[in-house]
Order: sequence, then structure tokens, then C-alpha cells
Amino acid sequence: MDSLFSMAGKVCVVTGGSTGLGSYMAQGFLQAGAARVYITARSTETLAATAAELSADAGGECIGIAGDLATLEGVQALAATLAEKETHIDVLVNNAGLGTGGPFADLSAYDWDRTMDLNLRSPLFLTQALLELLKRRATVADPSRVIFISSVAASEIYAHVMAYSTSKKAVEHLTPQLALALADDQVTVNAIAPGRFYSEMTRGAWQDPEKESFKAELQRIPAHRYGGREDIAGVAVMLCSRAGAYFTGEVLNLDGGHRLRR
Ligand SMILES: NC(=O)c1ccc[n+]([C@@H]2O[C@H](COP(=O)([O-])OP(=O)(O)OC[C@H]3O[C@@H](n4cnc5c(N)ncnc54)[C@H](OP(=O)(O)O)[C@@H]3O)[C@@H](O)[C@H]2O)c1
Repeated sequence: MDSLFSMAGKVCVVTGGSTGLGSYMAQGFLQAGAARVYITARSTETLAATAAELSADAGGECIGIAGDLATLEGVQALAATLAEKETHIDVLVNNAGLGTGGPFADLSAYDWDRTMDLNLRSPLFLTQALLELLKRRATVADPSRVIFISSVAASEIYAHVMAYSTSKKAVEHLTPQLALALADDQVTVNAIAPGRFYSEMTRGAWQDPEKESFKAELQRIPAHRYGGREDIAGVAVMLCSRAGAYFTGEVLNLDGGHRLRR
């Protein structure tokens, strides 16, 4: 049974892996036996601290690569650095993302563009830039894996988070299209759509657990809790090990039932 979920020897890339969901998945991959997990972020300090912490925690190595993925130059720079370091990549998790929101009247083109650039354009073009490395060791029996991170926001209608929820809905639409495009390359493409998770992005909502709005939120979520490290690490490891090799073009809702209660 253990080998079903083993990631022994795999080389993985997790964008935005310095904090939150990315760091949870990176840690899960290392604990499942991954040889190397590259994490990326803009803040070099946080990146170095997380890479050191995760490397100390498991057998494999966690390596930070700093850069801004909101720009295509940043995407190309990351791909070039990875090509210098590795001859192949088994797993790419396009996780780095930005949450924006506010009244429609205040929505600026700047905010719209930076949300779309980081959440939608960069994951697509990073996948394209890393395609040769992803194809290198991919086989019918053990395809390489690409994971996008969507959000429960893609399944709900909000008046205040238009750019964010539209970017995530587009990610979900992109997922099966890319899965079909990369099928003959033996690369699977799936998305995870998390509900509310503990991370830096949501810190304002959960850091005071006594806050009435947080308690009300927990009441509204059918699972009555936020998601944590094991919740997303477990699903990501499943998708990237033997267990998940037959999934492609899927969006896995990981939200404790959040989207069911509108
Ligand atoms: N937390 C939730 O409840 C939740 C729910 C649904 C979906 N998600 C999605 O999960 C993903 C991870 O978010 P999170 O909640 O874990 O947030 P987080 O803790 O704020 O992590 C975001 C990560 O992305 C990096 N990042 C941000 N902007 C970047 C940029 N321009 N270039 C490169 N890296 C950048 C951050 O590092 P730097 O700031 O140092 O660059 C950090 O490593 C996002 O796609 C988010 O939309 C989260």
C-alpha cells in the first residue's frame, strides 16, 4: 500500500512554496520520498527559512529559487534556472497566487492584470517553458504531473472578488484543455480547488480564533473547520504518486463541503 503513495526519487517544483499551501505540498512530497523539491517565491528570506526547515524534516532536499512569477521574464528565468540544475522534472505544482478583492467601483486594471498574470498566465506559460523537462522521463505507466491550484471561489458568485474568482474559473477551464494537449506527452494535468485553508492569504480571517466572523465562518463550512497541511498534502501526494496516475483533466474540490452551501 505504501508504494501506491510513494514519490521516491521524484524531482518536483512547487511555485509559491515558501508559505501556506505550497509549503504544505512541498513537505508532503519530501515525506513521500521525493528526491528534490524546488520551491519558489519573491521573499528570499522566507524562502531560505522554509527550504532549510523542510530539508531538515525529511530525506530529500528542498531548494529555494527566488523570483517574481507575475512577469513572463520571471517565468522564463525560473525555467532557465531549473534547466541548469535538472535534466528532468516529474512534478510541477502551479501554486503561487494572489487574492485581490473590493467593491467593483474600485477595481483597477492594474489589480485585474496582476491577478490574471500571476494566477492564470504564468502557470500556463511556466508549464510550456518546462514542458521538455516534464516530458523527459514521462511514461505511459508513470506520467509526469502538472497541478494547478484553483479555489472554491471559482464555483461561487461573489460581487467583491471578480478578478480572483474569474482567474480561478479560467484555471479550471484550462485544466482539461491542457490535459488533452499534453496527453500524448504522458503529462497529466489536474487542478485542486481548495476551500478555506490556513495560510498567509487568509491570516486576517483566522489569526484571532475568538473573532465572531471566524466562528461564523466555521459554522458555515460543512466540515466546520479550515483545511490544513495534511488535507492538501494528502491530495497532492495522491495525484503525484502511483495512486493518481490515471487522473487527468480533473478538478478536485478540497473544501470540506464549502461549495455545497451557497
Ligand atoms: N488559503 C486559502 O484558503 C486558499 C483557498 C483557495 C485557493 N488558494 C490558492 O492557493 C495558492 C497558495 O495560496 P496560499 O493561501 O498558500 O497563500 P500564501 O501563504 O500567501 O502563499 C503564496 C505563495 O506565493 C508566493 N507568491 C506570491 N506572489 C508571488 C509572485 N508574484 N511571484 C512568485 N511567488 C509569489 C508567496 O511568496 P512571496 O510573497 O515571497 O512571493 C508564497 O510563497 C494560491 O493560488 C491561492 O489562490 C488558497
